[in-house]
Amino acid sequence: METTDSILKINNIEVRYHEVILVLKGVSIEVPHGGIVALLGANGAGKSTTLKAISGLLKHEDGEVTDGSIEFMDERIDKLDAESIAKRGIFQIIEGRRVFEHLTVEENLKVGAHLRGNGKQLKNRLEMVYHYFSRLKEKRNEIAGFVSGGEQQMTVIGRALMAQPKLMLLDEPSMGLAPFLIKEIFDIITTLNKSEAIPLLLVEQNAKLALNVAPYAYVMENGRIVLDDTADKLQENPDIKDFYLGMTDLGGRKSFRDVKHYKRRKRWLT
Ligand SMILES: Nc1ncnc2c1ncn2[C@@H]1O[C@H](COP(=O)(O)OP(=O)(O)O)[C@@H](O)[C@H]1O
Ligand SMILES: [Mg+2]
Repeated sequence: METTDSILKINNIEVRYHEVILVLKGVSIEVPHGGIVALLGANGAGKSTTLKAISGLLKHEDGEVTDGSIEFMDERIDKLDAESIAKRGIFQIIEGRRVFEHLTVEENLKVGAHLRGNGKQLKNRLEMVYHYFSRLKEKRNEIAGFVSGGEQQMTVIGRALMAQPKLMLLDEPSMGLAPFLIKEIFDIITTLNKSEAIPLLLVEQNAKLALNVAPYAYVMENGRIVLDDTADKLQENPDIKDFYLGMTDLGGRKSFRDVKHYKRRKRWLT
Protein backbone atom coordinates (compact mmCIF):
# COMPACT_ATOMS: atom_id res chain seq x y z
CA MET A 1 0.00 0.00 0.00
CA GLU A 2 1.19 3.46 -0.82
CA THR A 3 2.00 5.58 2.19
CA THR A 4 1.84 9.35 2.22
CA ASP A 5 2.64 12.25 4.52
CA SER A 6 -1.02 13.06 4.89
CA ILE A 7 -3.42 11.23 7.17
CA LEU A 8 -6.36 12.77 5.32
CA LYS A 9 -6.60 13.55 1.64
CA ILE A 10 -9.63 15.13 0.06
CA ASN A 11 -9.28 14.83 -3.68
CA ASN A 12 -11.33 17.23 -5.72
CA ILE A 13 -14.71 16.39 -4.22
CA GLU A 14 -18.09 17.52 -5.34
CA VAL A 15 -20.94 17.41 -2.86
CA ARG A 16 -24.62 17.63 -3.62
CA TYR A 17 -27.63 17.83 -1.35
CA HIS A 18 -30.87 16.18 -2.41
CA GLU A 19 -29.13 15.06 -5.62
CA VAL A 20 -29.41 18.50 -7.20
CA ILE A 21 -27.97 21.24 -5.01
CA LEU A 22 -24.27 21.41 -5.83
CA VAL A 23 -22.49 22.85 -2.79
CA LEU A 24 -18.85 21.74 -3.05
CA LYS A 25 -17.42 22.21 -6.53
CA GLY A 26 -14.06 20.50 -6.52
CA VAL A 27 -12.46 20.76 -3.09
CA SER A 28 -9.02 19.37 -2.28
CA ILE A 29 -7.55 19.50 1.22
CA GLU A 30 -4.78 17.57 2.96
CA VAL A 31 -4.10 17.15 6.65
CA PRO A 32 -0.60 15.94 7.54
CA HIS A 33 -0.01 13.35 10.28
CA GLY A 34 -0.06 15.17 13.61
CA GLY A 35 -0.79 18.51 11.96
CA ILE A 36 -3.30 21.30 12.44
CA VAL A 37 -4.96 22.63 9.30
CA ALA A 38 -7.50 25.43 9.28
CA LEU A 39 -10.37 25.82 6.86
CA LEU A 40 -11.49 29.44 6.68
CA GLY A 41 -14.38 31.07 4.96
CA ALA A 42 -17.48 33.16 5.37
CA ASN A 43 -20.87 31.87 6.38
CA GLY A 44 -22.33 29.59 3.71
CA ALA A 45 -19.01 28.89 1.97
CA GLY A 46 -19.28 25.12 2.48
CA LYS A 47 -17.03 24.55 5.48
CA SER A 48 -19.45 22.46 7.53
CA THR A 49 -20.39 20.51 4.42
CA THR A 50 -16.72 19.65 3.94
CA LEU A 51 -16.45 18.32 7.51
CA LYS A 52 -19.67 16.36 7.12
CA ALA A 53 -18.38 14.84 3.90
CA ILE A 54 -15.36 13.54 5.83
CA SER A 55 -17.29 12.26 8.87
CA GLY A 56 -20.11 10.78 6.81
CA LEU A 57 -22.73 12.90 8.59
CA LEU A 58 -23.60 14.32 5.19
CA LYS A 59 -25.60 11.20 4.44
CA HIS A 60 -27.97 12.02 7.29
CA GLU A 61 -28.85 15.26 5.51
CA ASP A 62 -29.41 13.64 2.16
CA GLY A 63 -26.05 14.86 0.95
CA GLU A 64 -23.56 12.88 -1.12
CA VAL A 65 -20.03 13.04 -2.43
CA THR A 66 -20.79 12.78 -6.14
CA ASP A 67 -17.28 13.16 -7.50
CA GLY A 68 -13.70 12.91 -6.27
CA SER A 69 -12.61 10.90 -3.24
CA ILE A 70 -11.66 11.10 0.43
CA GLU A 71 -8.81 8.97 1.76
CA PHE A 72 -8.03 8.46 5.43
CA MET A 73 -4.86 6.58 6.29
CA ASP A 74 -4.67 5.47 2.68
CA GLU A 75 -8.15 3.99 2.71
CA ARG A 76 -11.02 5.39 0.71
CA ILE A 77 -13.83 6.43 3.09
CA ASP A 78 -16.24 8.58 1.10
CA LYS A 79 -18.67 5.72 0.52
CA LEU A 80 -18.67 4.55 4.16
CA ASP A 81 -21.44 5.35 6.64
CA ALA A 82 -20.85 7.65 9.62
CA GLU A 83 -20.52 4.81 12.11
CA SER A 84 -17.82 3.03 10.11
CA ILE A 85 -15.97 6.31 9.75
CA ALA A 86 -16.18 6.94 13.51
CA LYS A 87 -14.82 3.44 14.10
CA ARG A 88 -11.78 4.40 12.07
CA GLY A 89 -11.16 7.22 14.54
CA ILE A 90 -12.57 10.31 12.86
CA PHE A 91 -14.65 12.54 15.11
CA GLN A 92 -16.46 15.68 14.17
CA ILE A 93 -17.25 18.28 16.79
CA ILE A 94 -20.35 19.70 15.17
CA GLU A 95 -21.39 23.34 15.33
CA GLY A 96 -23.29 24.48 18.35
CA ARG A 97 -22.01 22.35 21.27
CA ARG A 98 -24.53 19.55 21.44
CA VAL A 99 -24.25 18.08 24.90
CA PHE A 100 -26.75 15.62 26.30
CA GLU A 101 -28.41 18.28 28.41
CA HIS A 102 -29.98 16.04 31.01
CA LEU A 103 -26.85 14.02 31.70
CA THR A 104 -24.02 15.16 33.94
CA VAL A 105 -20.75 16.34 32.43
CA GLU A 106 -19.12 13.02 33.34
CA GLU A 107 -21.96 10.99 31.87
CA ASN A 108 -21.58 12.97 28.67
CA LEU A 109 -17.90 12.04 28.59
CA LYS A 110 -18.65 8.37 29.20
CA VAL A 111 -21.00 8.32 26.24
CA GLY A 112 -17.98 9.14 24.10
CA ALA A 113 -16.16 6.01 25.21
CA HIS A 114 -19.04 3.84 24.14
CA LEU A 115 -17.33 2.65 21.01
CA ARG A 116 -14.26 1.28 22.76
CA GLY A 117 -12.72 0.10 25.97
CA ASN A 118 -13.35 -1.66 29.29
CA GLY A 119 -13.77 -0.20 32.80
CA LYS A 120 -10.10 0.42 33.46
CA GLN A 121 -9.56 2.04 30.08
CA LEU A 122 -12.63 4.17 30.65
CA LYS A 123 -11.21 5.42 33.93
CA ASN A 124 -7.87 6.20 32.30
CA ARG A 125 -9.54 8.06 29.49
CA LEU A 126 -11.59 10.12 31.94
CA GLU A 127 -8.45 11.02 33.88
CA MET A 128 -6.82 12.04 30.62
CA VAL A 129 -9.73 14.31 29.69
CA TYR A 130 -9.73 15.84 33.19
CA HIS A 131 -6.00 16.36 32.93
CA TYR A 132 -6.54 18.63 29.93
CA PHE A 133 -9.88 20.08 30.95
CA SER A 134 -9.52 20.76 34.67
CA ARG A 135 -12.76 22.78 34.56
CA LEU A 136 -14.62 19.65 33.60
CA LYS A 137 -13.26 17.80 36.59
CA GLU A 138 -14.69 20.51 38.83
CA LYS A 139 -18.03 20.28 37.05
CA ARG A 140 -18.10 16.51 36.57
CA ASN A 141 -21.31 15.97 38.55
CA GLU A 142 -23.22 18.97 37.23
CA ILE A 143 -25.99 18.67 34.67
CA ALA A 144 -24.46 19.49 31.29
CA GLY A 145 -27.44 21.62 30.23
CA PHE A 146 -26.64 24.04 33.05
CA VAL A 147 -22.87 24.54 32.74
CA SER A 148 -21.55 27.51 30.74
CA GLY A 149 -21.25 27.53 26.94
CA GLY A 150 -17.48 27.20 27.19
CA GLU A 151 -17.78 24.24 29.50
CA GLN A 152 -20.27 22.63 27.15
CA GLN A 153 -17.82 23.08 24.30
CA MET A 154 -15.11 21.47 26.45
CA THR A 155 -17.49 18.62 27.27
CA VAL A 156 -18.11 17.98 23.59
CA ILE A 157 -14.40 18.02 22.77
CA GLY A 158 -13.73 15.84 25.83
CA ARG A 159 -16.37 13.39 24.69
CA ALA A 160 -14.57 12.99 21.36
CA LEU A 161 -11.27 12.52 23.21
CA MET A 162 -12.76 9.64 25.16
CA ALA A 163 -12.93 7.63 21.96
CA GLN A 164 -9.19 8.00 21.23
CA PRO A 165 -9.60 9.91 17.99
CA LYS A 166 -7.11 9.61 15.16
CA LEU A 167 -8.43 12.80 13.57
CA MET A 168 -10.64 15.53 15.01
CA LEU A 169 -12.78 17.83 12.91
CA LEU A 170 -13.74 20.96 14.80
CA ASP A 171 -16.55 23.12 13.50
CA GLU A 172 -16.28 26.69 14.79
CA PRO A 173 -15.38 25.87 18.39
CA SER A 174 -15.11 29.59 19.19
CA MET A 175 -18.64 30.45 18.10
CA GLY A 176 -20.45 32.60 20.64
CA LEU A 177 -17.96 32.13 23.46
CA ALA A 178 -16.36 34.76 25.67
CA PRO A 179 -12.79 35.68 24.60
CA PHE A 180 -11.11 34.24 27.70
CA LEU A 181 -12.85 30.91 27.15
CA ILE A 182 -11.93 30.88 23.48
CA LYS A 183 -8.33 31.36 24.47
CA GLU A 184 -8.54 28.60 27.05
CA ILE A 185 -10.12 26.18 24.58
CA PHE A 186 -7.64 26.98 21.82
CA ASP A 187 -4.73 26.56 24.24
CA ILE A 188 -6.05 23.14 25.20
CA ILE A 189 -6.64 22.16 21.59
CA THR A 190 -3.07 23.09 20.72
CA THR A 191 -1.70 21.16 23.68
CA LEU A 192 -3.79 18.14 22.77
CA ASN A 193 -2.49 18.21 19.25
CA LYS A 194 1.09 18.31 20.52
CA SER A 195 0.99 15.87 23.41
CA GLU A 196 -1.53 13.37 22.11
CA ALA A 197 -0.44 13.82 18.46
CA ILE A 198 -4.05 14.20 17.33
CA PRO A 199 -4.30 15.84 13.92
CA LEU A 200 -6.95 18.55 13.64
CA LEU A 201 -8.95 20.06 10.86
CA LEU A 202 -10.27 23.28 12.28
CA VAL A 203 -13.11 25.22 10.70
CA GLU A 204 -13.30 28.87 11.70
CA GLN A 205 -14.82 32.12 10.54
CA ASN A 206 -12.39 33.80 12.87
CA ALA A 207 -9.24 33.69 10.76
CA LYS A 208 -7.03 35.46 13.22
CA LEU A 209 -7.70 32.88 15.85
CA ALA A 210 -7.28 29.96 13.48
CA LEU A 211 -4.05 31.23 11.93
CA ASN A 212 -2.57 31.52 15.40
CA VAL A 213 -2.84 27.78 15.96
CA ALA A 214 -2.77 26.29 12.46
CA PRO A 215 0.49 26.49 10.50
CA TYR A 216 -1.41 25.89 7.25
CA ALA A 217 -4.84 27.00 6.07
CA TYR A 218 -7.27 26.79 3.17
CA VAL A 219 -9.70 29.54 2.29
CA MET A 220 -13.07 28.52 0.94
CA GLU A 221 -15.58 30.63 -0.92
CA ASN A 222 -18.74 29.51 -2.55
CA GLY A 223 -17.86 25.82 -2.53
CA ARG A 224 -14.31 26.20 -3.80
CA ILE A 225 -10.87 26.54 -2.29
CA VAL A 226 -9.70 29.94 -3.50
CA LEU A 227 -6.40 30.02 -1.66
CA ASP A 228 -4.20 27.82 0.50
CA ASP A 229 -0.90 28.65 2.11
CA THR A 230 1.11 28.73 5.31
CA ALA A 231 -0.37 30.82 8.10
CA ASP A 232 2.57 33.22 7.86
CA LYS A 233 1.96 33.87 4.18
CA LEU A 234 -1.80 34.16 4.60
CA GLN A 235 -1.37 36.68 7.38
CA GLU A 236 0.63 38.80 4.95
CA ASN A 237 -1.83 38.39 2.08
CA PRO A 238 -3.66 41.69 1.45
CA ASP A 239 -6.95 39.97 0.56
CA ILE A 240 -6.90 37.96 3.74
CA LYS A 241 -5.98 41.03 5.73
CA ASP A 242 -8.86 42.99 4.24
CA PHE A 243 -11.48 40.40 4.41
CA TYR A 244 -10.68 38.00 7.21
CA LEU A 245 -8.29 39.76 9.52
CA GLY A 246 -10.09 43.09 9.37
CA MET A 247 -12.68 41.62 11.63
CA THR A 248 -12.58 42.21 15.33
CA ASP A 249 -10.17 40.05 17.26
CA LEU A 250 -12.60 37.62 18.81
CA GLY A 251 -16.02 36.69 17.64
CA GLY A 252 -16.74 39.79 15.56
CA ARG A 253 -18.27 38.91 12.24
CA LYS A 254 -20.11 42.09 11.36
CA SER A 255 -17.28 43.76 9.57
CA PHE A 256 -16.72 41.32 6.77
CA ARG A 257 -20.12 41.88 5.30
CA ASP A 258 -18.88 45.35 4.47
CA VAL A 259 -16.06 44.17 2.26
CA LYS A 260 -16.55 44.08 -1.48
CA HIS A 261 -16.84 40.35 -1.78
CA TYR A 262 -17.17 39.77 -5.50
CA LYS A 263 -14.46 42.09 -6.60
CA ARG A 264 -11.99 40.36 -4.39
CA ARG A 265 -13.04 36.89 -5.33
CA LYS A 266 -12.59 37.59 -8.99
CA ARG A 267 -9.05 38.63 -8.36
CA TRP A 268 -8.35 35.33 -6.58
CA LEU A 269 -9.77 33.22 -9.32
CA THR A 270 -7.84 34.77 -12.17
N1 LIG B 1 -28.88 19.89 4.32
C1 LIG B 1 -28.75 20.81 3.36
N2 LIG B 1 -29.56 20.81 2.27
C2 LIG B 1 -29.42 21.73 1.30
N3 LIG B 1 -28.48 22.69 1.30
C3 LIG B 1 -27.64 22.74 2.35
C4 LIG B 1 -27.73 21.82 3.44
N4 LIG B 1 -26.76 22.12 4.33
C5 LIG B 1 -26.11 23.18 3.84
N5 LIG B 1 -26.63 23.56 2.65
C6 LIG B 1 -26.17 24.69 1.81
O1 LIG B 1 -24.82 24.50 1.50
C7 LIG B 1 -24.11 25.74 1.52
C8 LIG B 1 -22.92 25.60 2.44
O2 LIG B 1 -23.37 25.41 3.76
P1 LIG B 1 -22.36 25.08 4.95
O3 LIG B 1 -21.51 23.94 4.54
O4 LIG B 1 -23.18 24.94 6.17
O5 LIG B 1 -21.48 26.41 5.00
P2 LIG B 1 -20.54 27.00 6.15
O6 LIG B 1 -20.33 25.94 7.18
O7 LIG B 1 -19.29 27.43 5.45
O8 LIG B 1 -21.28 28.18 6.72
C9 LIG B 1 -25.11 26.79 1.95
O9 LIG B 1 -25.56 27.44 0.80
C10 LIG B 1 -26.20 26.00 2.58
O10 LIG B 1 -27.44 26.64 2.43
MG1 LIG C 1 -20.78 25.94 9.16
